[in-house]
Amino acid sequence: MDLDQKVSRAVKRGKIYNMEHFHQAWEDPNLRRLMGNELLFPPSPRVVEALQAVLKSANYYPEDASTNQKLRAQLADYVGIDGGPDWITLGNGSMEIIDMLPMTFIDEGDEILLPTPDYSPYTRRPLLFGGRVVDVLPDEAFNYTLQSFLQRITPKTKMILLSRPNAPVGNMIDREVIEALCDTDCMVVVDEAYAEFSGQSLCGLVAEHPNLIISRTFSKALGLGGIRLGFIVAQPEVIGAVNRIRMPLNVSLFGLVAASAALEDPEYIRTNVHKVIENREYFYGRLSEIPDLKAYPSYGNSILINCDATGHTAGDYIQKLLEAGYLVRNQSNARGLPGDGFFRVTIGTREDMEGVARVIRNFTLGEG
Ligand SMILES: Cc1ncc(COP(=O)(O)O)c(C=O)c1O
Repeated sequence: MDLDQKVSRAVKRGKIYNMEHFHQAWEDPNLRRLMGNELLFPPSPRVVEALQAVLKSANYYPEDASTNQKLRAQLADYVGIDGGPDWITLGNGSMEIIDMLPMTFIDEGDEILLPTPDYSPYTRRPLLFGGRVVDVLPDEAFNYTLQSFLQRITPKTKMILLSRPNAPVGNMIDREVIEALCDTDCMVVVDEAYAEFSGQSLCGLVAEHPNLIISRTFSKALGLGGIRLGFIVAQPEVIGAVNRIRMPLNVSLFGLVAASAALEDPEYIRTNVHKVIENREYFYGRLSEIPDLKAYPSYGNSILINCDATGHTAGDYIQKLLEAGYLVRNQSNARGLPGDGFFRVTIGTREDMEGVARVIRNFTLGEG
């Protein structure tokens, strides 16, 4: 049998994601996990308690995202929208949302504008539905102007998709740019995975703009990456369209219960966000003192570094850090990050950031 003749066009366009960094982290629990932009602090005790209590009901299906009222009402409150549950639907992590949105909107030949660099899985999913990815290019400091988007819009442009704060850079596209993009005829999707660390969100704009969709996740500030829960905020008509292609029961009972319990402990969320921001600023300060090393200011929970001018490659730094027990992420030659000098460090505890800064400094100065 010639499998190539049997598989769909989508499969032929598909590519396997490289998830090796998570494998490496799970294989060696002694490594500090600074590679995946997770929260490095454990879930709230309330979450642990709620999960323990629900384990004995694991034989039952959960409620579906279309009928669930409690969590979606909590989420509407959390992001500060008045409309309630009808303005929200849920995903199995926001990665599933990145899958569902092209499935909802992209037809053969449609164009989708993506900043370059931005979160790499964005490039893959639209291709499956025959979409064409159009790169939007930043200036040298990775800033995207309104013009950089507008000049790429054609009659075929269906969607503009971007993260804010940007992954992997950590900077923010101006609110005014997004507002102006919402005045075009395109669907505008803003992935706010890291919003809590920036203190800014555009959820308040959704009521005015029927073409704006905000994606959020429990994997970052809310510290539930293993639970897999994301959600979108949009007008009810958009939510209805997404629900038509969403798999029934896509979110587990444990996802629903853990997310609800996490939102019932806002003080815990605030404390963790505060710690990440403090440690991020400390780490950025330490990196900025190292000659020839370029660290990019960040509103997220990671810092992108370019070591081109030090005479070493990102791979050299990553190896040194690994020897010291820190697993970080190579971003060399990632989309929009040319050369072999880019790597990214997730913000962990103060002790993590002191240790990583020390290794990077010593290696750069030839002392380690
Ligand atoms: C910008 C961005 N969006 C989405 C995700 C995926 O998040 P989730 O765990 O909700 O699938 C990530 C993960 O690193 C991310 O950086």
